[in-house]
Amino acid sequence: TPLPDFATRLVRWQRHSGRHDLPWQVRDPYRVWLSEIMLQQTQVATVLDYFERFTARFPTVQALAAAPEDEVLAAWSGLGYYRRARHLHRCALIVVETHGGVFPQTAESLATLPGIGPSTAAAIAAFCFDERAAILDGNVQRVLCRSHGVADPVPSTATTRKLWSLARSLLPQAPDIAAYTQGLMDLGATVCKPRQPSCGACPFAGDCRARLSGDPQRLPLRRPT
Ligand code: ADE
Repeated sequence: TPLPDFATRLVRWQRHSGRHDLPWQVRDPYRVWLSEIMLQQTQVATVLDYFERFTARFPTVQALAAAPEDEVLAAWSGLGYYRRARHLHRCALIVVETHGGVFPQTAESLATLPGIGPSTAAAIAAFCFDERAAILDGNVQRVLCRSHGVADPVPSTATTRKLWSLARSLLPQAPDIAAYTQGLMDLGATVCKPRQPSCGACPFAGDCRARLSGDPQRLPLRRPT
C-alpha cells in the first residue's frame, strides 16, 4: 500500500531541499527535452556545460533542425552515446516539419517521437504542461522500491509493470506535478543514492520500508544473473 501523503511530503521536500537553479528548470519544451536526453546517461555536472554550449549554438528547435547532422554530432561530442544525438536531430526535424515547430503537448504524443520513451515523455509533459504523467527511470525505481518495500527483482517485465502502476498511484494533483517530478529525480540523485543513502535527509525515513528492514541498500533487488 502507498505510503501516506507520499506526494505531499515529496513536494514539500523539493521546495525546501531540491534543486531549483538548473538551467533547464523552465517551461520551454525544447530545453526540457534536450536536457532530459542529455541526462539519460550523463551526470548533471557534465550536462551543465554541454547544455549551455548546445543551446548557445542551437537556441531553438528550428535552429537544431536546420543544422547539418555532422554539426549536431560535433556539438554532442564528448557526451557519448551518439545514437542519442542522431535521434535528437531526427526528432527536431519532425517537430519542425510535421508539427510546425511546436512540440506535442501530451506525454502520449511526445512518446511517438524518436528517442523519447515513456518516462522522458512524461517528464516533459509534467514540467512544461502540468500533465499528471508518471516517470520511471532508474533513480525513481530505486526510490519506489525502497520507500514501498518492493522486493521483486529488477529489471523484469513484471516488476516494471508493478512499479509503473505504483508510480501512477502516487501522483499529486496537477498544480504540484512539476515540483513532484523534480522532487523524485532530486531525491534519487542526492539522498536515496545507490550506495550509502542519506536517510537522515529523507522525508520518508520514518516509514521507508527498506530502512525499517535495517538495510535500505538491499533494495532494489538485483535480478540473479
Ligand atoms: N535527471 C534526469 N532529469 C533530470 C532533471 N530534470 N533534473 C535533474 N536531474 C535529472
